[in-house]
Amino acid sequence: MAESREAQRLDVAAGAHAYTIHFGGAAERALNAQTRALRDGGSRFAVITDSNVARVQGNLLDRFACEPLVLPAGEPSKSTESVARAWDWLCEARLDRTGSVFAVGGGVIGDLAGFAAATYLRGIRYFQVPTSLLAMVDSSVGGKTGINTGFGKNLVGAFWQPSGVFAVTDVLHTLPAREFAAGMAEVIKYGMLADRPLFDRLAKAPEPLQPGSAGLPEVIRRCCELKTGIVAGDERETASTGGRALLNLGHTFAHAIENTAGYGTYVHGEAVAIGLLMACRLSEELELPGQPVSPEVAPVLARYNLPLRLREPLAIDSLMAAMERDKKVRDQRLRFVVLESIGRAVTHDRVPEALIRELWSEFGAT
Ligand SMILES: NC(=O)c1ccc[n+]([C@@H]2O[C@H](COP(=O)([O-])OP(=O)(O)OC[C@H]3O[C@@H](n4cnc5c(N)ncnc54)[C@H](O)[C@@H]3O)[C@@H](O)[C@H]2O)c1
Repeated sequence: MAESREAQRLDVAAGAHAYTIHFGGAAERALNAQTRALRDGGSRFAVITDSNVARVQGNLLDRFACEPLVLPAGEPSKSTESVARAWDWLCEARLDRTGSVFAVGGGVIGDLAGFAAATYLRGIRYFQVPTSLLAMVDSSVGGKTGINTGFGKNLVGAFWQPSGVFAVTDVLHTLPAREFAAGMAEVIKYGMLADRPLFDRLAKAPEPLQPGSAGLPEVIRRCCELKTGIVAGDERETASTGGRALLNLGHTFAHAIENTAGYGTYVHGEAVAIGLLMACRLSEELELPGQPVSPEVAPVLARYNLPLRLREPLAIDSLMAAMERDKKVRDQRLRFVVLESIGRAVTHDRVPEALIRELWSEFGAT
């Protein structure tokens, strides 16, 4: 089916910086045009990817006609060692201030390569070529780049906007099903926090979305539109209520699950799915208007094979301690995102600790 022009691009204004996100088949053409234009203009570029993408996406990488830096796949690559390797790679490729970096991979590569670009020569251009669904709908837009340290995730980084994003949806065919489902958790999140019609579409479509679904580029585009709209109002997450923090719906719980279970036990989107349902239950317990929402949300998460509760019990004390650490490091207060209805999220920072403990227990913690 031919894609409408509408589904093919999204122009984003981020302060003084403007860039375009391209989707579906149009993204492939735009990517080719971008690399050709850089070559014709005589400016150098470097490509950073991971070992899985290098193994299964040879065609995508071949079009750059330059040897990529291939980092080991997985979260441990968001490290100071990897960023040092990336800086050396850019030096060896003799990139000057007119050079650019292409981040070809999931969120790990996007965050790492974006941070390398933000810091090399005090900042050069970079382009995102997201290859996971999560990267297409979330990490490749919004301008957050960074790495982890021994003290926690994303502790070092920079706000650095990409100069273009190319979401070539065809590459999702090689993405493992579990990773696709994890990306769907973020898609469902967008519907829950800001777009009831999107949520309904995910709930009621006769077939669940798959990598080859004709409607997928349009859904990805809508998520990017929602994210960039929220980010535009609060680029550096400084709003005292609402703002960029709303994108963290379910994430306060999810980070505690990932941290306590050990990174890798749950794929990020799986922890987010449990967190989304916990945020619904919290909204119900706080007697916010428009409740209950969880009876509507749970079947949509289940439709995408996402977990609805902890698979194995985790200790409530450890989960609470993880939340407390997260709070100390990031925000000095425990702020939850809750729902007034599906499509309308708000921030809430006066939640009694006993209620959170009860919720953990309800979701399988002991
Ligand atoms: N910057 C932001 O705003 C932002 C937002 C959300 C998440 N993140 C970050 O994103 C990261 C998670 O991103 P992710 O879920 O994409 O993880 P990821 O980059 O580790 O990718 C997930 C897995 O899929 C593989 N993969 C990716 N594309 C593939 C393809 N087309 N075919 C086959 N395999 C493929 C990867 O090799 C990896 O094993 C985290 O580090 C998180 O902190 C950043």
